[in-house]
Amino acid sequence: MGKISLQDLLKKVDDLPALPSVVKRVMELTEDPNSTARDINEVINQDQSMTAKVLRLANSAFYGFPRRISSVTDATIMLGFQTIRSIVIAASVSKLLSQEVEGYALLPGELWRHSQSAAMAARLIARRIKFSKAEVAYTAALLHDIGKVVLNSYVRETYEEVMDKVEKDKVPFSQAEEEILGFNHALVGSKVAENWNLPPELVEAIAFHHSPELAKTDPVLTSIAHVADFICVTMGIGIGADGLLYPLSPQAVNLLGLEEQDIYQIISQLSDLLVDQDSF
Ligand SMILES: [Fe+2]
Ligand SMILES: [Fe+2]
Repeated sequence: MGKISLQDLLKKVDDLPALPSVVKRVMELTEDPNSTARDINEVINQDQSMTAKVLRLANSAFYGFPRRISSVTDATIMLGFQTIRSIVIAASVSKLLSQEVEGYALLPGELWRHSQSAAMAARLIARRIKFSKAEVAYTAALLHDIGKVVLNSYVRETYEEVMDKVEKDKVPFSQAEEEILGFNHALVGSKVAENWNLPPELVEAIAFHHSPELAKTDPVLTSIAHVADFICVTMGIGIGADGLLYPLSPQAVNLLGLEEQDIYQIISQLSDLLVDQDSF
């Protein structure tokens, strides 16, 4: 099996389910300063399973509200537009990311757990360094490995070849993917994000989550996604076949101003959150 043609790849990307119209509507509404919590409530409530997922997540320990949030309007008021938006995106990709991804040796549910944990880690990092777009960081980390879903069957077929390259040439897994298939999962993931009309800094963060030095639009955002991924791998969450085969970028860590101590603290905060983590 040779390299994938761009045409085949884009077709595969196109074959993925589109973001549901609820998500598109919520994305528009949360961008519009004139919209109200009631507007958002109305849109989300049209989709029952979305409503249930939003409420379940809003009530998870992550947000730590002492009393139950029982309506989408309450959730929107208490969590804010940006958080509701990232919750809705998460709810809409949970199924796609929960499937088995054999090419990367990820059992059903493992990629979802990895993605969700990375998203939480990204939010913790963002809070710690006072990055203003914590919710974009959450979504970037949530979607960082979505390209694996697209490349799954190709990697399954060429796995030996890819691993051979990793071992012989001592290159990160994504570089071996790229040399053998023509594309790595990070770049493919960024094509998915583009297809979904997600903002350019999010597309970039997905594209460069294994090479954050290359980010130009928002290097901090990309570095957060990178470090969040690293933290989850370090904690053994959804490592799969390739997780351990990427270096941590010292530039990314420096750019974020993180000390070793910070990383340890984030790991401990995250493990506390994961104890209660049956959010979806
Ligand atoms: Fe990755
Ligand atoms: Fe990852």
